[in-house]
Amino acid sequence: MDLLIQDKTHDESRQGEALLLEPNQKNNGRKLYIESYGCAMNFSDSEIVASILAEKGFETTNDFNNADVVFINTCSIRENAEVRVRNRLKEFAGAKFKNPGMVVGVLGCMAERLKAKFLEEEKLVDVVVGPDAYRDLPNLIDQVDDGQRAVNVLLSREETYADISPVRLNSNGINAFVSIMRGCDNMCSFCVVPFTRGRERSRDAYSVVAECRDLFDRGYREVTLLGQNVDSYKWSNDEINVNFANLLEMVALIDPDLRVRFSTSHPKDITDEVLYTIAKYDNICNYIHLPVQSGNTRVLDLMNRTYTREWYMNRIDAIRRIIPGCAISTDVITGFCTETEEEHNETLSMMDYVKYDFAYMFMYSERPGTLAAKRYADDIPEPIKHIRLKQVVAKQQAHSHIRMQEQLGKIERVLIEGYSKKSDKDYCGRSDKNAMVVFPVEEGYKPGQYANVLVERCTTATLIGKII
Ligand code: SAH
Ligand code: SF4
Ligand code: F3S
Repeated sequence: MDLLIQDKTHDESRQGEALLLEPNQKNNGRKLYIESYGCAMNFSDSEIVASILAEKGFETTNDFNNADVVFINTCSIRENAEVRVRNRLKEFAGAKFKNPGMVVGVLGCMAERLKAKFLEEEKLVDVVVGPDAYRDLPNLIDQVDDGQRAVNVLLSREETYADISPVRLNSNGINAFVSIMRGCDNMCSFCVVPFTRGRERSRDAYSVVAECRDLFDRGYREVTLLGQNVDSYKWSNDEINVNFANLLEMVALIDPDLRVRFSTSHPKDITDEVLYTIAKYDNICNYIHLPVQSGNTRVLDLMNRTYTREWYMNRIDAIRRIIPGCAISTDVITGFCTETEEEHNETLSMMDYVKYDFAYMFMYSERPGTLAAKRYADDIPEPIKHIRLKQVVAKQQAHSHIRMQEQLGKIERVLIEGYSKKSDKDYCGRSDKNAMVVFPVEEGYKPGQYANVLVERCTTATLIGKII
């Protein structure tokens, strides 16, 4: 499948990445290996899982062959996300054969979707745990040690893990994800998330701010606030009501040197108040991921997105008016049930209207149990879905190119994240608008600091320049 990959926040197709934890004092002599797939929330959840097990003395390893407990934190968003996990499990089977005492656990969205069925289908799996049941992991591992197989897929209306301070895994010590809410109540007809993650709930605003402040005090310089629909964030106590605009402001006020990003915004809920807050604070990045899915109102209605083409365009106009120069990215699905050629062309014309900086583009993949699977036939033949996807990808490449060219000759404030992948003579980091920028190392500049970089050239996905 064609897919452009730019950053970690929205790329649900990411291959499993093993996570490595600092050694800890309470060592119980057992080693944990944890690998994550899917969206940023899953990666963030793996840090919560690692934190819960570190409390019980587990050390982590990045070699599953050496592990006593092997966890795979899974994604169900499209069929191939699940296929990838099944294949990976086959690779764990050899290690388990050599070490029969090894505990193999499936966590996350696939665990929630398939529940105990997983134990029937995959003989090597000992434990299946849904996203709201991670506090129960130590008990579940005990049960497996006692010779049982264990399942906990209870979803919760309250769990936000607010009190658990996540262990930052494989961290560069500069940017971190901070989960501000869990679940989703939107019921887009194509989407499994409401089933795998349960009801939407917002985390205590003070705990979000405390976590961000703590990160800043420990040298982190960028936080990405995470939720399936951050614009519906809503939390209150006896004294205050906090909406997403208020929360953004609270986090931005921690320190002007703490950059604030957020994901994902929803076209039906993003308010002018949020846009004015972004415009008001220099440290809230001028970058909005606003998934459109389709440019046609009838298809949007079938998708249950609850906005029209015109509404979406109006939100784009508002972004352009209130935050001039703001970068915008999107998600697109091609070949949704009954989509006609003309309707697909409206997605293309929407792309022309917005000229997105970046896009994640997918062919529709029917997911069992969703509203679309129940109500509509998945009737667009695969080759047509594919042609439409290719058209969307080609258009996006042209637009990304235009957006990159526009940045030539400009000075961008870049947060230095480390050495570039290719050379330790170059630094890399992101601009405010989320573009990757590479530039020669200069004395006096270190990762975690900001640099003003004059952009001189670009490749398809990277700006190249020098510190001025
Ligand atoms: N909460 C975010 C999206 C999370 S899922 C939002 O509402 O925008 C990320 C993306 O995966 C979606 O935006 C959608 O484009 C894509 N996606 C979700 N379900 C899909 C499916 N069944 N087939 C193809 N793509 C899908
Ligand atoms: Fe899925 Fe829609 Fe919720 Fe996004 S808003 S997670 S697409 S149901
Ligand atoms: Fe995948 Fe679950 Fe995220 S289905 S995209 S890991 S919320």
